[in-house]
Amino acid sequence: MTSIASSAHARTSFECSSCGTPHPSWVGRCGNCGDWNALVEVLVTARGRSPSTSHGLDVSWDIGDVRPLSALALDESNAVRTGMAEADRAFGGGLVRGSVTLLVGEPGVGKSTLTLQLAAARAQAGGRVLLVSAEESAAQVRLRAERLGAVHDELWLAGDSSVEAVVAHLDRLEPDLLIVDSIQTVHLATEGGALGSVGQVRASAQRIVAEAKNRSLATVLVGHLTKDGLLAGPKTLEHLVDTVAELTGDRHHALRMLRVVKHRFGATDEIGLFAMATDGLCSVDDPSRLFLSDRASDVAGSVVMPALEGQRPLLLEVQALVVRSSTPHPRRSPQGLDGRRLALLLAVLERRAGIDPGGLDVYATVVGGAQITEPAADLPLALAIVSAVVGRPLEPDTVAFGEVGLGGELRQVTDTGRRLNEAARLGFRRAVVPVSTPDPSAGIELIRVGTLIEAVAAVDLLPVAPRL
Ligand code: TYD
Ligand code: MG
Repeated sequence: MTSIASSAHARTSFECSSCGTPHPSWVGRCGNCGDWNALVEVLVTARGRSPSTSHGLDVSWDIGDVRPLSALALDESNAVRTGMAEADRAFGGGLVRGSVTLLVGEPGVGKSTLTLQLAAARAQAGGRVLLVSAEESAAQVRLRAERLGAVHDELWLAGDSSVEAVVAHLDRLEPDLLIVDSIQTVHLATEGGALGSVGQVRASAQRIVAEAKNRSLATVLVGHLTKDGLLAGPKTLEHLVDTVAELTGDRHHALRMLRVVKHRFGATDEIGLFAMATDGLCSVDDPSRLFLSDRASDVAGSVVMPALEGQRPLLLEVQALVVRSSTPHPRRSPQGLDGRRLALLLAVLERRAGIDPGGLDVYATVVGGAQITEPAADLPLALAIVSAVVGRPLEPDTVAFGEVGLGGELRQVTDTGRRLNEAARLGFRRAVVPVSTPDPSAGIELIRVGTLIEAVAAVDLLPVAPRL
């Protein structure tokens, strides 16, 4: 690890990369948060750590600056449209002046691509952008920009990894959008600690947040997520920034989802959908059609569900495949679905629908690299498994959604109207839904069922006799 501080009085110490707790010596497990192997070495200079200046407080306020809320101007035009429609949609209209957005995602998911496209779109829309690329060389960024059509006179590139240098650039350029790629690779000279250490990342972010507030500058900080999903180092960054957006997607599929998980200036239930192409991220305008484009509807084990991603209904295909297992411990292989939910549904199917999954390997997947975490996927997944077991497909114009309880009973899920409208729009005619589902406005027939076994009967999969 590169060390920044070079004081003669420097000494090493250790710090938990998950929670930031200091430790005088290395131990395998952090005593505070309990994470294993999370300790990293940090250099502490004689100067010590500079004291914390801000814990997410808006530093543009002076102490003692108290006003009635009603006396404050209401500025709804504060959002800076980036010019990338799907990103603006996810951010609730654009990036707010003076706000700091943390864009997180796993390495390779497309954060640098997205931020470069955002920068170019903003420059194209008449703004001035400073892109700090501390991770890639200027030549690499130029090459990528060429490919993305992102070369613009008002898109300025800085290769510095020092926050002080970035601040100097801000003084000279006065941009209206600052992008730092990434916050883990910039450092603050006044702060001890190695590059990427919790202290450095936090201090760098604090300084940038302060500058963003003082200058009313919309700012995006890129942050890497480690494999287990934690922002490498500090969870504490999430408290410093105004907005946290996550870019997710399966490396082997083109789909990328931009989801705002914390938003001080708007709702968190909008998402932006992109497809990664050879010329960067392109907006996906009709995601349901995209997901269903290669569907073979006469195959057993396939069920379409109208899922909800934030506010957005999406038709997704859930597939199951069962084979006789050759091991004493049959395989349960969920992709894009929750493994515990799959296990639970298999148990409910066994007890309430008479399907013994004991000797079967069960593979279940959401097609297209999408992920479903909502309980509405229970019924389609259960029906896909039954369809795979009996070897008969459902009618091709049928969708299903609903939560399954341990008693095999079906429970209503949220926003049924929106889901049914989307299914009807794409030509589906029947929906198997929990009995309490409100009447739809769309032209789609509801098949209301109270239990899992009723649902199985409604789609003609009874009797449930395995065809293996
Ligand atoms: P990148 O933006 O560098 O990811 P991150 O900054 O999150 O680490 O994206 C890297 C991947 O995206 C890389 O595997 C190649 C792919 N890619 C494309 O498919 N098309 C493109 O136009 C670009 C720029 C990247
Ligand atoms: Mg990158």
